[in-house]
Amino acid sequence: MADLRSRIVGCGAYLPERVLTNAELAKQMDTTDEWIITRTGIRQRHIAAEGECTSDLAFQAAGRALDAAGLPAEDVDLIIVGTTTPDDTFPSTATKVQAMLGLTHGAAFDVQAVCSGFVFALSVADNFIRNGQAKTALVIGAETYSRILDWEDRGTCVLFGDGAGALVIRADAAENGDGILSTHLHSDGRYRDILYVDGGPSATQTVGHLRMQGKEVFRHAVMNLAGVVTETLEANGLAIDDVDWLVPHQANLRILEGTAKRLGLPTERVVITVDHHANTSAASIPLALNEAVLDGRIRPGHLVLMEAMGGGLTWGAALARW
Ligand code: ACO
Repeated sequence: MADLRSRIVGCGAYLPERVLTNAELAKQMDTTDEWIITRTGIRQRHIAAEGECTSDLAFQAAGRALDAAGLPAEDVDLIIVGTTTPDDTFPSTATKVQAMLGLTHGAAFDVQAVCSGFVFALSVADNFIRNGQAKTALVIGAETYSRILDWEDRGTCVLFGDGAGALVIRADAAENGDGILSTHLHSDGRYRDILYVDGGPSATQTVGHLRMQGKEVFRHAVMNLAGVVTETLEANGLAIDDVDWLVPHQANLRILEGTAKRLGLPTERVVITVDHHANTSAASIPLALNEAVLDGRIRPGHLVLMEAMGGGLTWGAALARW
């Protein structure tokens, strides 16, 4: 069998209609627009409507990605949803999306790696494709973090938002071009306590709320992200100057700028959406990709480097020739 690669053939995203600005938050709690912007770069976030679930956002993003790819849903034989805010404990959000798309063939499952969820999901899908186990995969990052925030905790609730993004990737002979070049994943469970949800079906039988030691997360993020980017470039014999676009997980502007600075990458080559999306966890990379594809920044032939870190800790990167 010829060597296979995953080619990125479509991109789509969906944001809930409701926009929540910093000014509105300042009316509800002891915070200010100025504090949030200075510490995080965030100006607004989207919030899912009552009854609007992660699967609804994922389904919309998936449909748009399939439209962009010009492919019917029937072609899809693998659906992976990166999410930490599934509709239900089970079944998976991916199987719900599969049913919403009217599909009964192929496999669908969720991947849970918190803010690194999209990079982990993309890596799994890429491996399925390289091994010939799937031909056309929908890789989705979708979250409704508004449902797991403690709205009394101003230190965390101002940071997150809801949304979804999706890529369609397809098997193609490696000789036809590059596609996804490599993915690199890491985890270190010792740091569970710096970012976690204090609920769960087995431990507490509750959904729980997000808890975070912000300064610790910040410190690990810049260090781990710069490390995995360097690892990815070295694995491909490339240098940071070869990268057209860095598309990072959008946690906060200071992490994005700190990582770019450490890598020696000008911020003009970093896709930044955290100001208007806030941190949408597993959805943030495909949301940012979609924006940069639609506005013409990311074009065919560009070298695009995605990276993320999240609770676990988990972190990873994926390098693709668009
Ligand atoms: N509005 C006003 N004041 C606030 C707010 C708020 N929303 N939140 C906290 N404060 C106050 C604190 O109470 C504290 O007051 P005090 O000095 O009187 O005690 C003061 O601001 C400083 O608080 P810190 O938590 O020390 O603020 P810090 O400078 O560390 O900034 C932040 C907090 C923005 C969370 C920062 O630590 C950070 O960016 N961490 C990275 C975490 C992150 O991005 N997590 C996302 C999830 S992980 C991921 O996606 C990689």
